[in-house]
Amino acid sequence: MKVIVGNEEKISALIAEEFIKVVNKKENAVLGLATGTSPLKVYADLAKANKEGRVSFKKVTTFNLDEYVGLEGTHNQSYRYFMNENLFNHIDIDKKNTNVLLGVGDYKKFMNEYDGLIAKAGGIDIQILGIGSDGHIAFNEPGTAFDSLTHETELTEQTIRDNSRLFNDISEVPTRAVTMGLKSIMNARKIVLIATGKNKAKAVYGLIKGPISEDMPCSILQKHPDCTVYVDEEAYSLVK
Ligand code: GLP
Repeated sequence: MKVIVGNEEKISALIAEEFIKVVNKKENAVLGLATGTSPLKVYADLAKANKEGRVSFKKVTTFNLDEYVGLEGTHNQSYRYFMNENLFNHIDIDKKNTNVLLGVGDYKKFMNEYDGLIAKAGGIDIQILGIGSDGHIAFNEPGTAFDSLTHETELTEQTIRDNSRLFNDISEVPTRAVTMGLKSIMNARKIVLIATGKNKAKAVYGLIKGPISEDMPCSILQKHPDCTVYVDEEAYSLVK
């Protein structure tokens, strides 16, 4: 596991360059994408590079990590909405090649097909991850099996509290989600994780230094052959 420390602007730019490298090498690359505030600057940098003609997403396929159960893709807190607003609407991607798990309707069917669809597309070439303050990646909460594939899960109180900042009221935060599993994530050829701020310091310690344990889901990344962790000084403070 490689660790790179820098301010948010710098680490976001470095991650965007990693994505650009992958896509410029393989125009039909498969990208694994994440939501949350952490990847926002990366997505802005990718949109800028696309406008400048430094990269094209025309042949790219994407798979997102997760979605809240109960939210329509048009809900402003759904992850489909987030991806459209923060990336897909600003790049030359064909939206029918963008996959985000469903949270309503026949969402279980799509969930059960998801790992097969990723494999059929050729597997994820580069996966971006954020991290929850409890060490979750995607919505794989503490206790999730390391060999898990895409599944439905219950969110912890801490995650509901953390994510309530984006909703009008904590009572509006869904309590369940569908998420790629830890094995689905580990299958990606290359992983980049971004974490900033003091709130992430404990999780980042578990990620880099902690024992590999299902109590700290992100710790499995220590076993990935090509994983780079991008952190700011605050998120890195306990490791230092
Ligand atoms: C949610 C998402 C995760 C994300 C985490 C951190 O729980 N399911 O994929 O990593 O939030 O979000 P943020 O980057 O906003 O701190």
